[in-house]
Formats: sequence, C-alpha cells, structure tokens
Amino acid sequence: MTGSSSTASGLRVTAETGRGSGVGGTFPTGFLWGAATSAYQIEGAALADGRGPSIWDTFSHTPGRTLAGETGDVAADHYRRYREDVALMAELGLQAYRFSISWPRVQPDGSGGVNQRGLDFYRRLADELLEHGIQPWPTLYHWDLPQPLEDAGGWPVRDTAGRFAEYALLVHEAIGDRVESWATLNEPWCSAFLGYASGEHAPGRQEPAAAVRAAHHLLLGHGMAARGLREAGARRVGIILNLYPVEPASPSDADADAARRIDGLHNRFFLDAVLRGHYPDDVVEDLNAVSDHAHVREGDLPLISTPLDMVGVNYYSSHVVAGPDGAAAPATHSPLVGGASPYPGSETVRFASRDYPVTAMGWEIDGPGLTELLGRLGREYPAIPLYITENGAAFEDAWLDGRGVVDTDRVTYIETHLRACREAIAAGVPVRGYFVWSLLDNFEWAWGYSRRFGVVYVDYETQRRVPKLSARWYAGVIRRNGLPG
Ligand code: NOJ
Repeated sequence: MTGSSSTASGLRVTAETGRGSGVGGTFPTGFLWGAATSAYQIEGAALADGRGPSIWDTFSHTPGRTLAGETGDVAADHYRRYREDVALMAELGLQAYRFSISWPRVQPDGSGGVNQRGLDFYRRLADELLEHGIQPWPTLYHWDLPQPLEDAGGWPVRDTAGRFAEYALLVHEAIGDRVESWATLNEPWCSAFLGYASGEHAPGRQEPAAAVRAAHHLLLGHGMAARGLREAGARRVGIILNLYPVEPASPSDADADAARRIDGLHNRFFLDAVLRGHYPDDVVEDLNAVSDHAHVREGDLPLISTPLDMVGVNYYSSHVVAGPDGAAAPATHSPLVGGASPYPGSETVRFASRDYPVTAMGWEIDGPGLTELLGRLGREYPAIPLYITENGAAFEDAWLDGRGVVDTDRVTYIETHLRACREAIAAGVPVRGYFVWSLLDNFEWAWGYSRRFGVVYVDYETQRRVPKLSARWYAGVIRRNGLPG
C-alpha cells in the first residue's frame, strides 16, 4: 500500500507499509526495545511514604473531571508490586523500561526538602531493573505537578521552571549513578494546552493566555534541567514530544491555513524551540491573538535549545483539519470537557475524519503517517537521534476463559507501526529504539480505567497481571530483533 499527499509544510513523503516494499523486518543491531509507563498512571500508593498531592490527585478527585470519577489512588499498585513487574519485563525480554518519576513523591512541596522514602523507591526500582539487565529510562515530568506549585500559579508562572530544574538535579544526584538516559518532559503540548487551555487535563484551567505562558515555562524548565543534567554528567538527555502529521481536509486556503496552524502548535512550536533555538514566526503571530509574549525573556531560547542527545517521539495518529467552515468537528481529547479549544488563537480549526479504522480512543490508525513524520524529522531536524518513546493502542480487550486476552488488533497495530519505523530507518532516519505504550493497563487520564493500552492485562480487582497475546508477540520481536516473516 502506498499513500502520498501533502501536509501543512507540503512535505509528505510517499510512505509504504513495508509489505512488498522490499524493506526487510529486521532492525539494525543495537536497536533498543522497551516498554513505557508513567508514575501517576500505574503506581497508586497515593498517600504512601510521605508522597504529597499532585495536580492529578486534585483533578481526579474533583467530581466530573474523570470518567466514572476514577482516580490514580490505587492504579496498578506498581509502587508495591514493582519487583513482580520488573520480573515480567525480564520475562518479555525488554532491554529498557521507560517510567516516570513522581515529583510529589520525591519533593512533596515541589521545592525545598526531599522526601527520602520517595526517592528510595526509584533507587530500588533502578537497581531491580539493572539486576535484570534492563536499562532504566526515567522521564522527570509526566504531568504530575506538585499541588503546592499549582497553588503558587503552576506552569504559567516562571518560577515553576526553576523549581523543575532543581528537582531534576536532585533526582540525578540520587540515581545518576544508575541511569544513563534521561528525559525531561513528556508531551509538554498536553501539559500546557490540555491542562491550561481546554482544561481536559489537570489542573483543568481554561485560560488560553496562561496556556501559552505554560508552554514557554515548560520548555524553559526543560532547558534549565537539560543544561544542569549535562553539566552533572548525564550521558543521554532528551525531551519527549507528541508529534503528528497534519493534513488539510481540502486544498482550500482556509483548510491549508488550519493545517499550518495545527502543525505549528503541535509540532513546530516545540521542535523549533528545542532544536533550532527560536519559535516559528507564524505560530508567534497566531498566538498574538491571546498573548503579548512578554513572558519570553532574552536568554530563554538559548537555554531551551541546550544541545540534546535524543528526541523521543510519541506517535499514535495523524490529523486532518479544516478551517471554520470545514465539514468537521471541533477538537476533543476527553470524554467530559466540551467547549474550550486546546489551540489558543486557532480555536476555530476543526478536525475531520478519513474513515480510517480507529482504536478504542477513536483515534484513526495511520501507520504510514509515522514513516512520514520520521522522514520529515530526519530532513528538517537532521542529526538528532530519535526514539519512539510511545506507540500503542487501546482496544476493547476481551477476556476469553482459558485463553486470556487475544488482542490481535493490538498486534496488528504495533506491527504496522514497527514496519513504518523500519521503512524510515531504511530511508536513513536515525531511529534508535522503540517503546511500546504501555507495559500495563493503566489509568488513562480523563478516561480513567475504561481504556486499556497495556500489552499486559491488569485485573484491577486482584491486581493480577496476565500478558496478552501482544506481549508474547512483542517478546518474539525483541528476541529476533525484528518482525516475523
Ligand atoms: C501519551 C501519554 O504520554 C500517556 O500518558 C498516555 O496514556 C498515552 N499517550 C495514551 O493516551
């Protein structure tokens, strides 16, 4: 199958799925195979050992914020079951495990004193991983800001950036001897724009101007932390972005402008700041509608563009967008909050569907879109090693007595996207590893436990873990360093 069309930047490449394309299914030697999770989504133990509240504790405990009012209080109880989970990872042959550090667990106030018991958990986890030959890949911020920092203004306030850098160094000091690969932020677009513009995520604010400040301060915090980590001797430092190919629904000027805007806010705003040291002019102009940009100070962008060793790409789907009159729906990422747009200054953009098959999140499955995205990164931001730090899907997993979960749709999803990576690698894009999202079923934010992304099934009543067919299949991919057939 071949797909080709033009994107916002007019750069969509011809993308083939691998089948019949002549590219084999074997990955380069040394390609890194892993799985990913995040603290609030799996750890539970919300009150254990001195952990403080995060914005996600507050948000999920507020009626009407998550589907069925579910919270991460218990989640997959990983805080207590981490040994069992690491044994499972080893059984699957994982070479690396991407997890996140809970800031409110190690520094409950978000500044000042360290909570030693919280920090010790990550030391034990790293040790357990290393004993099983699995590289620890911590992410320092996966959306769980300590509540006291939100009470002081949150990410829209500049001070939060400095607090984040201090926290990053404190974690490095504690486990830097065990960790080679560090990611600062996970998906800052979501933290800024779902957290402070649409309000679908914690802290649930709907203040577009504050969201623009949040985006800048998240990036500033990233830059300050990245510089500090490098100076402290961290071997590999990166940032993790959710990136999407964005196409116009039609060749009309209005739809092309919509695509430029969404590509700008989702992709170029973050990529250009981090890898080129400036915000794209057109995006700054779009944002003039809600912000005077006075929060951007001299010296910020050189910090934000501190040289990195990798960019992590989280890829799930692609977008087709239209202008205000396009035959499409407004953007939504949550089952609950309607109305507010996560795109400040571009609120009128609408999202179209192409009638592709969708996952249980309603996200269209677009494997070739990943080849296209990676190709674009390779061309426009050359020389930076890339890792797929998340890719995976929620489906209606059915438990079959005697057979467990036979999730062939998830196997097909992962296989399609791995072929897409393989294509990009064959075309010369420096993709160095792949982390499936997720190791375990977990708390899917506003969707609570209603959406299962794990390759391992979690029975939340008993906390029993059962590898799905996809886990066994993925273990085979890792063993042969490639796809079957
Ligand atoms: C991206 C986020 O990093 C992760 O927390 C989330 O569960 C997955 N996408 C699926 O929505």
